[in-house]
Amino acid sequence: MKTTISAFRADLGGIGGHLRPSAKVCSAVSDYVRSELHSLLKDTDISFTGDDMTIVATHTQGCNDRAVHEGLMEALRCGARQAAEEGLYGAGQDLYREAFSGAVRGLGPGIAELCFEERPNEAFLVLTADKTRPGAFNLPFYLAFADPMVCAGLLLSRKLHQGFRFVIMDVAYAAHDRVVSLEAPQDLYDMAALLRSPERFAIEAIFSRTTGDQSVAVSTARLHNVAGFVTGRDDPVAIVRVQDHFPSTGEVLAPFAIGPFVPGFLRGSHAGALLPVRRNTGVSFFDGPPIVSGAAFCVKQARLTDAVDVFDHPFWDHAAQQIAEKTVSIRHQGFFGNAMLTLDELSQSDIINIIRELDRPARIPL
Ligand code: 13P
Ligand code: MG
Ligand code: MG
Repeated sequence: MKTTISAFRADLGGIGGHLRPSAKVCSAVSDYVRSELHSLLKDTDISFTGDDMTIVATHTQGCNDRAVHEGLMEALRCGARQAAEEGLYGAGQDLYREAFSGAVRGLGPGIAELCFEERPNEAFLVLTADKTRPGAFNLPFYLAFADPMVCAGLLLSRKLHQGFRFVIMDVAYAAHDRVVSLEAPQDLYDMAALLRSPERFAIEAIFSRTTGDQSVAVSTARLHNVAGFVTGRDDPVAIVRVQDHFPSTGEVLAPFAIGPFVPGFLRGSHAGALLPVRRNTGVSFFDGPPIVSGAAFCVKQARLTDAVDVFDHPFWDHAAQQIAEKTVSIRHQGFFGNAMLTLDELSQSDIINIIRELDRPARIPL
């Protein structure tokens, strides 16, 4: 019997702006999961990152299972209704269609899913990021799966030596899912040419070239492409199976010490350094900074162990100081240059109209 991990992430509303959900919203989600979904799901873990709630559910129904998706969607709706009752900001921000109409994908929540035969020791991570985009994981995952400077296993273990296959999505393309499959190491430069642009391209999945098994699934839907207008900002969730034929937990976590500049931050319009934080941390500075939190689990017969809070360690306090300094440094230049995103990326904001209105006919001299 295969085990499935489903991770659903959505912004259900925040206290005082886009900061964090309320305790009652978290309870509304977990109460529904506990009372209504206990027979369908084997186990769940519920947490928040910034203003986004994430439900991690284990079950044996497979990926894209209608009952599981409907159930988790309804749990998120319970949270959104509670947020509306409390008057939270942006209540139900990411759940923009009331009626359930078939597939849950495209209805708002970020969804990452993996279905697999459990290994005897099945270890995995769930990483969630707020105030950024799915492409925020591009650099950490590239380094963890394709660069021996970080992934020592590529040199030290035959199980990893053949490298990995990356599936990369063009997240700006609205008509359909436009993806390309590239192999590391031989396609490394082509991969880098795409992954350098996190606002345009995002890693969707990574597979072992030795076994063909999937390690990584990232939620890559961009809501404004689905909805045709900006609602949420598509803050991503990723599931990463680790160890054995995959990189170790440490190899996946290490690149987060870099704190790469990612798009997002205030009004989804700025660059900030991705800050690793403890689980259930809100945001604060300049509606940010962009943050990532992570939980490590083992799963056996679809039952989860306790979650280990992977960035809750003195090392990450040290890294966070340096990463916060990068963010403070770029904030000094305010709206200018690389501190704010390009006009292309701001195409859904009013700045485009403001600039258009300046395009008056040239003054004719008397
Ligand atoms: P969220 O996408 O996390 O709701 O952030 C919205 C925003 O623009 C904050 O300034
Ligand atoms: Mg929000
Ligand atoms: Mg958010």
